[in-house]
Amino acid sequence: MSEAYTSDEFWQGVRKPVESASTLPRDAYTSPGFFELEQTMVFDRGWVAVACADELSQDGSVLVRSVGSRSVLVTRNSEAEVRVFLNACRHRGTELLDADAAGLSVIRCPYHRWGYNLDGRLVATPRFTDVAVEGFDPSDYPLKSLRAEVFAGIVFACLDPTTAPIAEYYGDLGDRLAGYGLNGWKTRQTATFDIAANWKLLSENFQEYYHLTWVHPELAKVSRVKDHYRYQGPGMYCGQTTTPVSGDDRDDWLAMPAAAGLSASDAHSGRFLALFPNVMLSVLPNHAFVIQLEPLGPGRTRERCTWLLPPDSTDVTEETFAVTQDFWVDVNNEDIDICERSQRGIHNGGFTEGRYSVRFEEPLHRFANMLADQFQCRQRIPAGDQDGDASRYGDGRLPV
Ligand code: FES
Ligand SMILES: [Fe+2]
Repeated sequence: MSEAYTSDEFWQGVRKPVESASTLPRDAYTSPGFFELEQTMVFDRGWVAVACADELSQDGSVLVRSVGSRSVLVTRNSEAEVRVFLNACRHRGTELLDADAAGLSVIRCPYHRWGYNLDGRLVATPRFTDVAVEGFDPSDYPLKSLRAEVFAGIVFACLDPTTAPIAEYYGDLGDRLAGYGLNGWKTRQTATFDIAANWKLLSENFQEYYHLTWVHPELAKVSRVKDHYRYQGPGMYCGQTTTPVSGDDRDDWLAMPAAAGLSASDAHSGRFLALFPNVMLSVLPNHAFVIQLEPLGPGRTRERCTWLLPPDSTDVTEETFAVTQDFWVDVNNEDIDICERSQRGIHNGGFTEGRYSVRFEEPLHRFANMLADQFQCRQRIPAGDQDGDASRYGDGRLPV
């Protein structure tokens, strides 16, 4: 059955132009076979977010995360370079850590105490060579490392050596976000949610503001539907922007000071970007809200949420920050509720496939085609908005 998910027939509805396309079929959200193949075709090949860079600011922090079906360790070496390793000992394969750790200089295997430094080098093998072991050289047994990069304040890892470098993978997004300097932003708060919905429902929901008025009545007061427009260049992401970022009688998003040195456009906009496959990134002038999606099963996803503040906002009081945090928690809970409800309807209600609103849901079509490309082994980075698209997808005016 799994071979069917790589066939042209399975993806034919998604491949049509958005006006005539179908949404992802039911199996994409419910089938264990689809989920398993997705882990291989998407998460074992793409750039997968595993942490926020600032989570590694303490010396010796080692985070246990996953890339697809693999458990990985995320850390910085003595040169402060980010390193990501498979979480398996080179002696007889034991899982090294089962929870985040801090203050480590050596990662010790619990089984026979082999030890690895934070560059992955094998530095301890107690009593292993009491009797000579032929041809054994510790330098031949470092931890297996993955490609790792910091991009937009987030640590990404990639298992596949043939995948494009991250700067190419995300296309022009690095330039679009450069003015914020996100790599230097600081973690203010984190939260984790386990959700009874497929990871793609959460990402798709994030990519459209069609639901804004009905699912988020309070958010819609700050972030008006009419102020949204598409924000997509060439690259593996889907995006929208709100300008101005706060447009009515609530100013929840503006309680904290803005980052220094922003352009006029950045200072007045909210960027909402779904980085393929597993990041939902909201960047506002004074904070960023990062959600990393960790798929746990066809109908289960873990969200790791991080609020980042610009480096000169560390003295923002708890009270002031709470306005922004509480606002996001409420919005996110509304999104989680509706996505769990979608999951139940797709699973139990006999849904097969639907249609897209061309005006509001084009990013979902772009996302579905990125997914199709991965399943069908097409290494293609989607193009960006075309001149003339504004009349179809919104025409927010950037301030001068
Ligand atoms: S399996 Fe790790 S030291 Fe033996
Ligand atoms: Fe929403």
